[in-house]
Amino acid sequence: MRLIVLGGTRFVGRAVVAELVAAGHDVLIVHRGKHEPVGLADVPHLHAHRHDLASRAGELRRFRPDGVVDMSAMTRTDATMALAAVPEGPRLVAVSSIDVYRAAASVWAGTVTDAVPLTEMSPVRDSPPPDRTYVMEGYDYDPSDYENLDVEAAYLERGATVCRLPMVYGPYDFKHREGFVLRRVHGRRKQLPVGAGGWLWSRGYAPELARGIRLAVEQWTASPEVFNLCEGQCAPLRMWIEQIVASAGADLELVCVPDNALPSDLDITGDIAQHWLASAAKAEEALGWVHRDPAECVGESVAWHMEHSPAGDGDFSADDRALAAAHTR
Ligand SMILES: NC(=O)c1ccc[n+]([C@@H]2O[C@H](COP(=O)([O-])OP(=O)(O)OC[C@H]3O[C@@H](n4cnc5c(N)ncnc54)[C@H](OP(=O)(O)O)[C@@H]3O)[C@@H](O)[C@H]2O)c1
Repeated sequence: MRLIVLGGTRFVGRAVVAELVAAGHDVLIVHRGKHEPVGLADVPHLHAHRHDLASRAGELRRFRPDGVVDMSAMTRTDATMALAAVPEGPRLVAVSSIDVYRAAASVWAGTVTDAVPLTEMSPVRDSPPPDRTYVMEGYDYDPSDYENLDVEAAYLERGATVCRLPMVYGPYDFKHREGFVLRRVHGRRKQLPVGAGGWLWSRGYAPELARGIRLAVEQWTASPEVFNLCEGQCAPLRMWIEQIVASAGADLELVCVPDNALPSDLDITGDIAQHWLASAAKAEEALGWVHRDPAECVGESVAWHMEHSPAGDGDFSADDRALAAAHTR
């Protein structure tokens, strides 16, 4: 197939482009040119801001796409301007997030509203997304415009398939999801302060999610569809940290401290009442997609980041204070 990918040069989108190319599809990447893809030099590019796509519609049409995969829409305007520029007819797949669920807002509000796992039928938020305070690094939308529910609505109206992603980890992750543990490994710390670590937070390995997105494109049915894509089994927070430590080959003891003593980057190990756990059962059934063993994926991701990512903040004074609180309990 001939497929246009909007975005596709940094992390999840990059993994999707790699997956599509490996499966034999012809891909045209459309992005501004601020982040060029590493290791995908042979894939053709069109440099355009997504809000200027209307003026590039001729070039998009000349590519004769069988499909468009939108990896980078953050706002209603992002979605509607892209949809106005792409030709009618091709298959459409857009990426969203499990932050659309009401449970996500409850995590931030400290309330409990939803049974888990969250399915595609679970209630969605009726208020703004939990964290609108920042623009994701490298994007240029206004935080008050960020809303995946708006992106989904625009795409579903055009018969698209929407893939809701969990927290994503893996090679090229510019958010360095394992960084809160790996900076302590790099700092040769011996102890890591944690809370009970029981929180369930769905995750997904970028190359595995990319395979799910490829299958959603290939098996597109022309009727609006939503799929959660995430790990089939979710290790509680403490267990995920233990997997990261073991994968890094580190000798780092986890020490339980009171929640109010936790360093800010470890507060997710404290008591969070609402789990944020999604089910990918629908994608498994409809697309035949099953996420690989998460422990194996964490190992691959950690190996990549140990080699490629910066060591991170070397100030461990908050850890020392937390560990002292544990010892004086
Ligand atoms: N990371 C997570 O944990 C997570 C969780 C849930 C959902 N998601 C979703 O996954 C998707 C993929 O994220 P990603 O950043 O890894 O994707 P990506 O597609 O690898 O990178 C973002 C792409 O968008 C392009 N871009 C950014 N602003 C643009 C603009 N105004 N006009 C044209 N192109 C633009 C960037 O290239 P240039 O800079 O060169 O323009 C880059 O190619 C996003 O929709 C994100 O919300 C991610």
